[in-house]
Amino acid sequence: RPRVLSGIQPTAGSFHLGNYLGAVRQWVALQETHDAFYMVVDLHAITIPQDPKDLRANTRLAVAQLLAAGLDPDRCTLFVQSHVPEHAQLAWIMNCLTGFGEAGRMTQFKDKSAKQGAERASVGLFTYPILQVADILLYQAHEVPVGEDQRQHIELTRDLAERFNGRFGPTFTVPKPYILKETAKIYDLQDPSIKMSKSASTPKGLINLLDEPKATAKKVKSAVTDTDTVIRYDVAEKPGVSNLLSIYSTLTGAGIAELEEKYEGKGYGALKTDLAEVMVDFVTPFRERTQQYLDDPETLDSILAKGAEKARAVAAETLAQTYDRVGFLPAK
Ligand code: TYM
Repeated sequence: RPRVLSGIQPTAGSFHLGNYLGAVRQWVALQETHDAFYMVVDLHAITIPQDPKDLRANTRLAVAQLLAAGLDPDRCTLFVQSHVPEHAQLAWIMNCLTGFGEAGRMTQFKDKSAKQGAERASVGLFTYPILQVADILLYQAHEVPVGEDQRQHIELTRDLAERFNGRFGPTFTVPKPYILKETAKIYDLQDPSIKMSKSASTPKGLINLLDEPKATAKKVKSAVTDTDTVIRYDVAEKPGVSNLLSIYSTLTGAGIAELEEKYEGKGYGALKTDLAEVMVDFVTPFRERTQQYLDDPETLDSILAKGAEKARAVAAETLAQTYDRVGFLPAK
């Protein structure tokens, strides 16, 4: 079976709809066909200041949500990044292989550091993409299921894998991004020119999966569309409507053309009312299942312990080979 690996940050409160449709949904599908490794990236989370108590709670919450979304610990390896020390170890080697200018060109770093004030941003934030490179290469992943915003980091991963292989001999699988066109970028419901995100979106434009379903329905019903009334998928001319159609289509399995036909001659109100219902039907059981996992911390811990063990077996082998290639003296 080909291998996939991906990660998600333990954010406060809950995952948003973009995380789910852009990434986690694919993770669930891929565990059926691939040897799948998925992790909650707590090492990445601390590139921005975190309260220790909150970080711990958010990490558990992230795992509970992944299970609620349909990850099955019997079908995939689910773990927490800091439980596998090899991530930090390989990251160091990758740091030493990356050019300063090369790292400085990462657009997510530029955006995030600009937001904090460049002087205040941590060195960890600067090397964030390189830790991600290590995450992927450790598992010899063939594909990395992510949203469009992660494409540049996967490109860097490919570059560094090729660089290492070229310099030290074939060691790493060169991975490909796995990005589905329709859900590569889910947009803010109030401003369809920006991606849905915890940091950029206004609360009204952001669908948090664990919010009150009623509040979610309201946000869908007040989504920004345009002054026209025609329901047609056209990202350039009708970004708001197209975003709603993508979300609707993915959550129900109905094709875009089918939806365009269904709503022909009907206004945006009808589309939004129906989508609000679809969304409520999705988030209601998701919230319940997440709560069930949170209420059973022992099960959660044992899932993570097993996951870390399986992950370490793979990671340790890759790291040992890498150390050898680099020329480190074996510890006797
Ligand atoms: P993170 O935690 O920001 O987001 C998790 C996943 O959600 C996707 N995503 C979106 N997709 C579509 N539309 C959106 N509006 C949207 N917002 C977020 C992201 O693309 C991502 O796939 N650096 C990564 C975590 C990471 C990782 C890895 C990923 C660490 N190591 C190794 C893959 C492989 C991140 O911050 O994702």
